Amino acid sequence: MNPNKALWEKGDFTRIAATMRESGDALVAGLGITKGSKVLDVGCGDGTTALPEARLGADVLGVDIASNLVEAGNRRAKAEGLTNCRFQEGDATNLTGLADSSFDLVVSIFGAMFAPKPVDVAKEMVRVTKPGGRIVMGNWIPGDPTLVAQILKISSSYSPPPPEGFISPMTWGIEANVIERFGAAGIPKEKISFSKDTYTFTSPGSPSAFVADFRDYYGPTMNAFAAAEQNGKAADLQRELEALFDRENRSQNGGTSIPATFLRVTVAR
Ligand SMILES: C[S@@+](CC[C@H](N)C(=O)[O-])C[C@H]1O[C@@H](n2cnc3c(N)ncnc32)[C@H](O)[C@@H]1O
Repeated sequence: MNPNKALWEKGDFTRIAATMRESGDALVAGLGITKGSKVLDVGCGDGTTALPEARLGADVLGVDIASNLVEAGNRRAKAEGLTNCRFQEGDATNLTGLADSSFDLVVSIFGAMFAPKPVDVAKEMVRVTKPGGRIVMGNWIPGDPTLVAQILKISSSYSPPPPEGFISPMTWGIEANVIERFGAAGIPKEKISFSKDTYTFTSPGSPSAFVADFRDYYGPTMNAFAAAEQNGKAADLQRELEALFDRENRSQNGGTSIPATFLRVTVAR
């Protein structure tokens, strides 16, 4: 079994995605999508950004390695009657079956960053983008003090060391690496721009209930708990995550509202 696929089919990422919808809508609203644009959403999950892209009239294809998330995305699109939005299984490292220069816009929000072989990922995203089109990526930033970078840092500190040669997904949050990867795909650095942006995770439950969602449904945190349990450290991991979620929570009404900073990358093809 492909470990990249197994990681994201584990648990149920839709439980986390449900807390990201408002920020997904807001991000897509700023992308300048027009009716009939051809949009590819890579590592689309259950469609947090793909559905709003389709609501704006784009012709959207979502590609994701996790079959359960592809099914969930297709269910959500069908429930909304969005006939211009479909989801299929695929791997960002090899977008086989997708023609060269076929999309006006390729979007990947916290998606392609999790695929192995980042140079192949950049090459594939460039290949399928039309000349004159754009690629927009959202990538978590290593060392950033906000929620997701810290969840991933804490989770990895309780997990076994990755196999030799493993390239951390977080390296997609470093501008020099992004320039190098798209450069290898033929994009000069003048065509790549960067900005810091924010995604807010909102949930009606308490921060500790939200930690439980990550523990029970989010692959990377589930794996960290499994390893921590074997070492008798699960309570330490739980405590670290609860302290993080409490510190970052901005909600005043007992719920959870946590902003997280990410690197937004725009590539002009
Ligand atoms: C953190 S989730 C983000 C999902 C979605 N973009 C969103 O904003 O909710 C990461 C997604 O990337 C997908 N993914 C990871 N590796 C992938 C790969 N090699 N090819 C395609 N999708 C991948 C996962 O299955 C998962 O849906």
